[in-house]
Amino acid sequence: MLNTGKLKKIKSNFPVLIGSNVVSKDICNLLIDEISNSKAFDDMIMRGRSRINKGSKNFKSYIKRSDKSAKLFRLFNSKLFYKRIENLFYKNFKNQSWTNSYKPEVFNTSKFTIKKKLNSNELKKLFGNNYTNPKVNLDIDFSVSKGGYRLRPHRDDITRVYNFLIYLNDIPKKNGGSLTIYRKKTKKKFRKSFKRFPKINELEVVKSFTPKKGTVIFFQSTPNSYHGVSLFVEKNCSKRFFIYGSYALNKPVIWKYKGTPYYPHIINTKKRMLTSFHNANYLTSAPKN
Ligand SMILES: [Fe+2]
Repeated sequence: MLNTGKLKKIKSNFPVLIGSNVVSKDICNLLIDEISNSKAFDDMIMRGRSRINKGSKNFKSYIKRSDKSAKLFRLFNSKLFYKRIENLFYKNFKNQSWTNSYKPEVFNTSKFTIKKKLNSNELKKLFGNNYTNPKVNLDIDFSVSKGGYRLRPHRDDITRVYNFLIYLNDIPKKNGGSLTIYRKKTKKKFRKSFKRFPKINELEVVKSFTPKKGTVIFFQSTPNSYHGVSLFVEKNCSKRFFIYGSYALNKPVIWKYKGTPYYPHIINTKKRMLTSFHNANYLTSAPKN
């Protein structure tokens, strides 16, 4: 169903594996049909992206009536496949600068990142301050975006180890909606902090990928893995169908750069938000709480 042998590394400031025709065109079309036939979506985010999220009742019934989506979900939701991806990254990036301090050994198939809205104190409590022995789980959503969808440059949630994208249809370049990878403009040998949302003028574009049917991208969610999506214009073109997911820990990932650990500092807020909406910066000092 998914030919991981076609995934190849690209030149980037953080580990990225990409391949075209990793999922066959026929299967992409069937997946599009299944998403199109879904009457209910769990939420809409980023001005136009409708999602069916792992963990919701709706997701369960979607999986029950959607053959190909179920097959893909079961493939990703397994320790075996997680290990395959982990190995691919180790093999392709042997001398990598970024490493995960605490490798998860337990894969929890039924777990998912909670979709409850929390303030920063509640989130900190949820994570605790012991970062050892993490467990890993799959988070996945079947998504369709309409015009207006965009994502400003950011790094993903602090619990994520790997992120992936499966594009189900071709989007003409002029319609936007391409995934853009960024790096910080000034090249320092050593950086004390990595903000979750750097300003656009602090960044330069490394690469941009126009969605192509069957293309799959995996990237390691390191503190510097800045990426975004350019504005998608739905003009003389279909909606943007894709599957987004990640392998996430049940606590923050403590990333190390050439042996130096970076700890996430969650920004205080009384506002209740989804865990993935919280702002946190990676710093070389441990948080005090
Ligand atoms: Fe992201």
